[in-house]
Amino acid sequence: MKPVASPYNGIFYTGAPYETEALGEALAGVLRSGNVVALSGSLGAGKTTFTRGIARGLGIEEETTSPTYTIISEYEGVLPLNHIDAYRLGGERDFYEIGGEEVIGGGGVSVVEWPEKISGALPAESVMVSISVLEDGRREIAIRGLAL
Ligand SMILES: Nc1ncnc2c1ncn2[C@@H]1O[C@H](COP(=O)(O)OP(=O)(O)O)[C@@H](O)[C@H]1O
Ligand SMILES: [Mg+2]
Repeated sequence: MKPVASPYNGIFYTGAPYETEALGEALAGVLRSGNVVALSGSLGAGKTTFTRGIARGLGIEEETTSPTYTIISEYEGVLPLNHIDAYRLGGERDFYEIGGEEVIGGGGVSVVEWPEKISGALPAESVMVSISVLEDGRREIAIRGLAL
């Protein structure tokens, strides 16, 4: 399969985790401070894998793991990365209570897994990344709303 290259809005297909990571890394190259990436997809689709690529693209060397229990992880990179997993939140209110609004409003790049849980707390101009698992196991990754 051809490696993914373009970080622009569109639909991409990946056949292995490293390709999903490479797409995230490419996207990171065009993200700016304040950008929020709403990253949706079912359990095991590849959201954390994609986020690992974004982290690498931001020059973060620290291992990124899923913040399922901690909800928010913050990393220092070329731009700071806020990795948010909203899976365990009941809704926007929970997100506000843990200071989520300040985190995404505080600069850097924010990546939100399970964004539908807190959609009301996310900016309308969020970059939407949606990962689906195809029958053959490949991932279809749609990127929308990226303004360059
Ligand atoms: N093309 C692919 N892209 C991403 N992950 C893939 C792909 N093919 C298989 N996988 C596997 O799917 C799983 C994705 O896990 P993860 O990124 O943690 O998902 P999520 O965060 O969406 O729950 C990993 O075990 C990974 O090895
Ligand atoms: Mg995950």
